[in-house]
Amino acid sequence: MHRKCKYALSLMTAVMLVMLFAVTPYATANEKNVYLKDESSIPELLKVMTLEEKALLLAGDQDSQKLKGAAGSTTGALYEKYGIPATSLPDGPAGVRIDPLPGGTAPDGTPLTRYATQFPNASARASTWNMDLLNKVGQSIGKELRYFGGDLWLAPAMNIHRHPLNGRNFEYYSEDPLLSGKASAAEVKGLQSQRVGATIKHFAANNQETARRNLPTNLSQRALREIYLRGFEIAVKEAKPWAIMTAYNQINGISPPQNPELITTIARGEWGFDGIVMTDWGGQGNASYWEPQPGNNTYSSMVKAGTDLSMPSGSAEDIIEGYQKGFLTMDEIDAAVARVLKYVLKTPAFEGVQPSTDHNKYAKENEQVVFDTAVESMVILKNEKVKGKKALPITGGTIGTIGNATNNLVRGGAGSGNVNVDPSKLVHLAQALKETGANVIDATKFDYPQVDSILPVGGIGGDPAFKEMKPTKEQLAKDIVDKSDSVIMTIRRGSAEGVDVQAEKGAYYLSDAEQYLIETASELCRKANKPFIVVLSTGAPIEMESWKDKADAILLAWETGTVLGKPIASVLTGKENPSGKLSTTFPIDIKGKDPNGWPYVPATTFGENPVTYHEGIYVGYRYYDTFNVPVSYEFGYGKNYSDFSYSKPKLSSKTFNKSIKVGVDVKNTSKVPGKEVVQVYVGAPGKAMHKPLKELKAFGKTRELGKNERQTLTFTLDARSLASFDEERSAWVVEPGKYTVYIGASSKDIKHTLNFTVEKEIIVEKVNDVLKPVVDIEEIVPPKKAK
Ligand code: BGC
Repeated sequence: MHRKCKYALSLMTAVMLVMLFAVTPYATANEKNVYLKDESSIPELLKVMTLEEKALLLAGDQDSQKLKGAAGSTTGALYEKYGIPATSLPDGPAGVRIDPLPGGTAPDGTPLTRYATQFPNASARASTWNMDLLNKVGQSIGKELRYFGGDLWLAPAMNIHRHPLNGRNFEYYSEDPLLSGKASAAEVKGLQSQRVGATIKHFAANNQETARRNLPTNLSQRALREIYLRGFEIAVKEAKPWAIMTAYNQINGISPPQNPELITTIARGEWGFDGIVMTDWGGQGNASYWEPQPGNNTYSSMVKAGTDLSMPSGSAEDIIEGYQKGFLTMDEIDAAVARVLKYVLKTPAFEGVQPSTDHNKYAKENEQVVFDTAVESMVILKNEKVKGKKALPITGGTIGTIGNATNNLVRGGAGSGNVNVDPSKLVHLAQALKETGANVIDATKFDYPQVDSILPVGGIGGDPAFKEMKPTKEQLAKDIVDKSDSVIMTIRRGSAEGVDVQAEKGAYYLSDAEQYLIETASELCRKANKPFIVVLSTGAPIEMESWKDKADAILLAWETGTVLGKPIASVLTGKENPSGKLSTTFPIDIKGKDPNGWPYVPATTFGENPVTYHEGIYVGYRYYDTFNVPVSYEFGYGKNYSDFSYSKPKLSSKTFNKSIKVGVDVKNTSKVPGKEVVQVYVGAPGKAMHKPLKELKAFGKTRELGKNERQTLTFTLDARSLASFDEERSAWVVEPGKYTVYIGASSKDIKHTLNFTVEKEIIVEKVNDVLKPVVDIEEIVPPKKAK
């Protein structure tokens, strides 16, 4: 056939195909021929869609036919008539949570399987402090999301670690809003670069699982603005996520999805959020912003407040009733419908991307990202010398591994934050160590008695109870310690959505069985002059103060996802140099007080119902530093195999004018190539308003520096980053006076301090006086002399 002719034919086929696709959806086309095409088609659609159809769109859907295992979708019922496709919304914070069995069989008759990649948990990812890496994590998840047929990712989750026992802390980044906001923004940007959307959640102040639905949460406007909303604000402004998911709990008397102050005034109005707002699953709430009146029901109240999707199944009838009884206007309904349609226009579903039921084609490349992230997230909490040499890394000899967790590491937390991975691919620690070439004596292979140890987690899909091995001291000596050159004990802790961590042995505390094993192994190793190393496989802090001196080295591995034991083994054996620093404080205890009478954890009301945040802005290190309360391991802390020196930093000016720059030179003074996380804290004068001793205002991570290599990191502080929230004036204000800049390797390990002056008060931004508390809240204030 003539070449031109062939071309013409294929063009014709293409045109026919396009026509076919353009026509099929609209088999029962609407009379006016109005379809969703682009933004300009939305006003017309709003004219032709009936009230019922609009309400249906806003009511959300659970039908995840398109992507099996997705938590929800938007309705597909309007596709034929208007060309509005269903979109799929899978969880969650550690990767794409979908059903690994998409349906159908392979040619050999076995069911088709496809497994998404599980990434280290969010607190681990934040502990990398590497925003380029987190952008890459976002990209990797975005690629899988699009490939499997997802449109909108129900993550990142970015609530603040208010208390170490929150059962969902593993899903959240940090106790600090700057780190949370930046980490979230990096992942959202990376993910959305793949032309799929992200949902930041749970908006806001959702900090415990106990009584989580409708929990009355009372907190000051300042705590809200500075701590609990700030991360969301950063993520919205820097990364423009496609969606926000509201929280289950009430905030100052109102359910978040029914609160126009939170959604319309703050998120959309002040921050310029232009995406969709959805409820958490069944989280429509029970407290309306408006007085009881005809037509005010849960669902109409949400639409009026600016919430667009009621997930996973709202009541279209109630929205209709809201309109018919005059509570809800058509403009309000149309505004929500228009936002949903704008969202749909951006989705792969609208582009016509076909979901894949095949194997994960990104598995290999993403595994590398998981591995790199895990390595950069791990924190060496302790590394003492034994026989003149640091316990870690283990550079040779036989390694004895004890504790059942050696072969039962935690890959992630449970609930909607889980990812269904291929269990046959998981490599636990003993095997992973062997794969590095190490000679391993694995105590789980001995037939030791088993005793009760870890409590069942409960919640959604939480772990069952686990037993621990109980060898006699003689067995442990003979089988393991005598034959090894170093001994590693692994401790695991799972946690789950729907339940907080118990303040019990076998949960926050070591179990008696673990205590016995640690004490016995430590004693035997010390007697034999052999390093005793503890590995923590956990997404959140456990109590360590009572036993940390028993170990020569402690590695916090976090939850390592798909690659499980591999990066842990690489770090333990020095094949990789970790560079994580704690994104959250490990306190002395969750009960009790320090010698001055200050509690070891400031959120003393955690778990109560209702809950009132008396600690105000003094969350995490803001509290520990200001009130001088000791901790086990502080925020921002972490060792690695390199050593770094910080040269004298420079400030761009002695007086603040719009912004100020601080530069510091970091040098690797060791032989081991490594990366260093540098933290910039600022202490304000604290005369007009009480202030934390210091607050994180900037941070950075060097590239990998070789021996004697140095890098200058430069940070810019602008007025907003120095400002505090003044409730009296409802404004972000920088008070005049002397400011201190702390350049730290952690929140306590301050290498240099510098000063600058703000000459006049700066009102950076006036905002709306909203979200006022409905009860009196007495907040703690710092003792004068602590400043
Ligand atoms: C969780 C959300 C999750 C949703 C859908 C809820 O229980 O709180 O974080 O996205 O379920 O699975």
